[in-house]
Amino acid sequence: MRFFIDTADLDQIKEANDLGVLDGVTTNPSLMAKAGISGAKNIEDHYKKIASIVEGDVSAEVIATDYKGIVAEGEYLAQLAPNIVVKVPMIREGIKAIRHFSDNGIKTNCTLVFSPGQAILAAKAGATYISPFVGRVDDINWDGIGLIAQIAEIYAVQMYETEILAASIRNSKHIVDAAQAGADIATCPLHTILGLLKHPLTDIGLEKFLADHRKSNQGA
Ligand code: G3P
Repeated sequence: MRFFIDTADLDQIKEANDLGVLDGVTTNPSLMAKAGISGAKNIEDHYKKIASIVEGDVSAEVIATDYKGIVAEGEYLAQLAPNIVVKVPMIREGIKAIRHFSDNGIKTNCTLVFSPGQAILAAKAGATYISPFVGRVDDINWDGIGLIAQIAEIYAVQMYETEILAASIRNSKHIVDAAQAGADIATCPLHTILGLLKHPLTDIGLEKFLADHRKSNQGA
């Protein structure tokens, strides 16, 4: 499974990239606002900066919700950098636009996916990625990881090429469970990636190895 980072914060993107495990970045209007980025020119510059830090795909989300607007905005975003992927909401006009982008060789990430039916529609339209929101499904007492598993099974049976990008990841266990359920990618906040490092027995074991080394090398 590949790792994307789900943030517009440049320091966090650099930190994950330096770790050597980063395959891409996803952003959305909320994450851009959280990073304090506003205004068309600043947003555009910010996408360029992100796209220059990582080699992998960078999702840039359209604001328009009508077909013509989504197409115009998406085509503009796509030419900002070769690794920009146009992120399009799962709405009727969005599906039409995804078909247009797919026919014209522009990669897309269909976002705000909450059901297997939506996932089928996005795959039929030729989306490069779909983003099912694991955490938000859990928030309404439903089963976010179950949704990933169901979509993975459908895509395997139907041989759809669209990749499953597990989004709205809230903790490290979500990453592990999404991997087991068949997600191609998880897009994660930095703390959830770093959380994968943690195990108390690793810390205890390392402390003992180093103490034993010190003891046997005293005065050597
Ligand atoms: O990838 C989508 C993500 O940014 C939404 O996360 O935690 O707001 O549901 P969250």
